[in-house]
Amino acid sequence: MNTFWHNLPTPFTVLAPMDGVTDMVFRQIVTQIGKPDVLFTEFTSCDGLMSEGRKRVEQNLLFEPNEQPIVAQIWGANPKNFYETAKHIKKLGFSGIDINMGCPHRPVVKNGSCSALIKNQPLAAEIIKATKEGADGLPVSVKTRIGFETENIDEWIGFLLKQNLAALTVHLRTVAELSKVPAHWELMPKILEMRKKYAPETVIIGNGDITCLKEINEKYKKYGCEGFMIGQGVFANPWIFDNSREKADITVEERFEILLRHINLYEKTWGKKKNYANLKKFCKAYINNFPDASRYREKIMEVKSLAELREEVIKLSHVTQCHPDQA
Ligand SMILES: Cc1cc2nc3c(=O)[nH]c(=O)nc-3n(C[C@H](O)[C@H](O)[C@H](O)COP(=O)(O)O)c2cc1C
Repeated sequence: MNTFWHNLPTPFTVLAPMDGVTDMVFRQIVTQIGKPDVLFTEFTSCDGLMSEGRKRVEQNLLFEPNEQPIVAQIWGANPKNFYETAKHIKKLGFSGIDINMGCPHRPVVKNGSCSALIKNQPLAAEIIKATKEGADGLPVSVKTRIGFETENIDEWIGFLLKQNLAALTVHLRTVAELSKVPAHWELMPKILEMRKKYAPETVIIGNGDITCLKEINEKYKKYGCEGFMIGQGVFANPWIFDNSREKADITVEERFEILLRHINLYEKTWGKKKNYANLKKFCKAYINNFPDASRYREKIMEVKSLAELREEVIKLSHVTQCHPDQA
């Protein structure tokens, strides 16, 4: 196999798909301040893309060329819609397609999608086959967990490794564990042994609890998987993928400047298509790690519109510049 996955540096970094978080705006900010080696879109419904409401769903698939290599993550339970969606994604110019087989949310599991596929191997195999056919040479990968109720890598990861995937991301928790227990990195050596046996060409990405690049180097030495995916860590520190900087190096001024950049790009990209209130959760990502940060965030949380939010952020950034001791 010779796909973009096979031509990345090792170890490589991946921005995790996060619904409601990793839209094009946040990915643009991350790309500008510290770009990971691979980016994923939020998960996107194949059924939604094939429905009358496709325009709204398609917003998830917006990206800029500077985000490449970027992978579109899709979910559903209907192989025909995976086939059509994969054809569409290829036309849009993505570098790869990833199938979500790990999301634990009840509504998607109830409809037989995402992590429900861990319990339905025949449908999982059909979906992978249909996606590959539609992808027409674009690399197809899967993101999953280590089992449903209990760890089941022998059967489930073994099954996936036999599907000739370009890459496989393993979030090292069961579905039942949600994010409530530490990720089981101790299982990675066994997964890599299985890869050697069943699918030497499938690139393996580990995921769960990574909070800085230093940890990646340690885990790479200890476990040896090629890729490391970071989700919530980027929310705690959006500069996480910049290996030249520590969290403590980011000045208060820069934090406000990047938040303002995010707000302006959000307005330019989404206008009224998305609620301004989504932006509030990003305030925590940028405005932290300095004295009194929580007091500044509280002020930001009180705003009632995007215009007010921008005004408040500008005002607070001036206060911190004039009175750095307050920051
Ligand atoms: C808000 C949020 C949204 C998520 N959305 C997705 C998603 O769309 N697709 C997916 O495969 N995983 C999704 N995840 C799971 C993450 O990609 C990742 O597997 C998980 O957070 C564990 O990694 P971490 O410990 O680095 O955060 C989401 C997680 C969070 C917190």
